[in-house]
Amino acid sequence: MNVCIIGAGYVGLTTAAVLAKLGHTVHCVDENEQKIAALKRGDVPIYEPGLAELFTDHQSRLFFHHKQIHVEADVIFICVGTPADSKGKPDVSYVNRAIADLTPHINEKQTLVIKSTVPIGTNERIYNHFKNEGKHIRVVSNPEFLREGSAIFDSLYPDRIVIGLHHDDDRSLSVMQTLYAGIHAPYVVTSLSGAEMIKYAANAFLATKISFINEMARLCEAYGVDVVDVAKGIGLDGRIGPHFLQAGIGYGGSCFPKDVAALQQMAYEQNVRPYMLEATKTINDTQLNWYVQKIKRTLGHISKKRIAVLGIAFKPNTDDIRESPAVSLIKKLHAHGANVIAHDPKAVLHNVDVKQATTLEEAIAQADALIVATDWDEYKQLNWSYVKQMMSGNVVIDGRNCLPREAIMNAGLNYIGVGRG
Ligand code: NAD
Ligand code: UGA
Repeated sequence: MNVCIIGAGYVGLTTAAVLAKLGHTVHCVDENEQKIAALKRGDVPIYEPGLAELFTDHQSRLFFHHKQIHVEADVIFICVGTPADSKGKPDVSYVNRAIADLTPHINEKQTLVIKSTVPIGTNERIYNHFKNEGKHIRVVSNPEFLREGSAIFDSLYPDRIVIGLHHDDDRSLSVMQTLYAGIHAPYVVTSLSGAEMIKYAANAFLATKISFINEMARLCEAYGVDVVDVAKGIGLDGRIGPHFLQAGIGYGGSCFPKDVAALQQMAYEQNVRPYMLEATKTINDTQLNWYVQKIKRTLGHISKKRIAVLGIAFKPNTDDIRESPAVSLIKKLHAHGANVIAHDPKAVLHNVDVKQATTLEEAIAQADALIVATDWDEYKQLNWSYVKQMMSGNVVIDGRNCLPREAIMNAGLNYIGVGRG
């Protein structure tokens, strides 16, 4: 099939690479001229494991365009951003602009697929917009569930494919099944609004699991219990499951914070009080401060202390720093007068007056304390005896409960986790 993807970000580029791998011809359109120029040169503008390799392997089927929509496409995807506005409501202006750009070109043979996470009712509104323009366009809501850092794997082996469409739309499901032929996953077919709600509910539930375990971490701390044992003990119950029970400095990224806030706003608009979402957000919003208090108690005072913060990205295996708890931590420590030196294997610190080390050694050398803020594998695999020799102090703070506690303590270092007694 011939596919056009509008929005060449994390979702658009991953979708493009995976569809090209499946044998389709893919045209990516973005309004960012620099990004398109880089892609045309063969440079992938984001770090996502396996993405650059797929682009190289399937370059004969991948094309990049600045603004110019590929009008001959069978299927057109909208993958533009939907960030939160200042009140926490999703800003759909990028989607609206993409639809406005499409309006003169799109025809009734084409299938329009909305992959961006959009507020309930948006797909219906888009359908009506075209109808008012005299065009009967088949609109499909096909929300994306990939995680950054494992986006290619998640797209090739998804848990499910959610398809929202009109009940009288007989053709779109088979178009989507042809497009995704080769991907084996159960289909959930629902209404346009049903698909939109599934996307928000999935993110809200995962965020709630994290806030739940972070609240348990605070309780564990108070009672001298190890939350890692608790997560294991409850996670082995098949009804609970082991995933998303890693306590830490809170969830970040471009989606959980904005999608929880968006669903909350949508609830208020319908006069429904979202008690659970409010609690999820409140716990997350206070988690970092709770942990910084612990860091202060551990270090005595932090002013002038040299603190190595390992991790800048909001999670490992990505260079994305949107809503990164690691960046918030760095800013807080800096504001408290600490001499912070940050490190990340891929992400770059912007607009913060803090030095970023180019090597791990440079970050760790002479540090009074070391804090792991993002659970990259290379931090988990550090040689702790060597770390001890390099540091001036002896405090290792594990903000992600990801480090080997015994090995750290055996190296003569003081280990401080999150809710670990
Ligand atoms: P992103 O910010 O990385 O990329 C969006 C791209 O769209 C940018 O390159 C921007 O220049 C381009 N763009 C914006 N308006 C445009 C227009 N009118 N015409 C052409 N290009 C335009 O965003 P993302 O992280 O890929 O997220 C995209 C959507 O997918 C969001 O709704 C997000 O909530 C959802 N989502 C993201 C993820 C993720 O892991 N990042 C996962 C699932 C769903
Ligand atoms: C999340 C969802 O997992 C995806 O299914 C969804 O498609 C995506 O949002 C989206 O809509 O954009 P992502 O944000 O890329 O994916 O990454 P996650 O692995 O979910 O991590 C999100 C945040 O939660 C990170 O800051 C991570 O460190 C934190 N986290 C995750 C925890 O604190 N504890 C955990 O147990 C798991």
